[in-house]
Amino acid sequence: MADKTLHDLFIDELRDMFDAEKQLIKALPKLVRAASSAKLRAAFESHLKQTRGQVRRLEKVFTSLGEKPRGKHCDGIAGIIKEGDAVMKEGFDAEALDAALIAGGQRAEHYEMAAYGTLIAWAQALGHTEAARLLQQNLDEEKAADKKLSGLAEGGINQSAAVAAYPDEDADDEPVAAGAGARKTAKRKPARR
Ligand SMILES: [Fe+2]
Ligand SMILES: [Fe+2]
Repeated sequence: MADKTLHDLFIDELRDMFDAEKQLIKALPKLVRAASSAKLRAAFESHLKQTRGQVRRLEKVFTSLGEKPRGKHCDGIAGIIKEGDAVMKEGFDAEALDAALIAGGQRAEHYEMAAYGTLIAWAQALGHTEAARLLQQNLDEEKAADKKLSGLAEGGINQSAAVAAYPDEDADDEPVAAGAGARKTAKRKPARR
């Protein structure tokens, strides 16, 4: 019988995110240990702290709705975490691994941003203003964490990884191609294996 409503869907998705955040609390310390950049380690550590707060906020959301806080296995975030675990065992150099950890971390942030965006819209449509307010706080933290990771990648980590990939390149030897947006980039070389 198809008698479930948007209310049921909302509660279901809240349980999914409650579980997702708990999975991330277990996964983030592995990222902290695997990262070489001190700034990246600090970013993961601070997001771990925020994530613990997000779980407490979700508990308040459930309470505000008269529901017991309860999780339901989130396959989506489990998949992202599984990919992250796999990349750590691939044998990447320290710089490439940092770039890979950021890539995985940002996948998780975007998953969370999509989920919280939807939950907020549903909370508003259903008139659950307190829940919407709390969920917005979580969304704001996910967006900030995503931005932080982009800043670290573009602010040095990707470049260090590129230099480690093509160590013989001297950026100053190569004439810069003329044209709009032309930049000095490491010259392509066949992969050494
Ligand atoms: Fe989160
Ligand atoms: Fe997050």
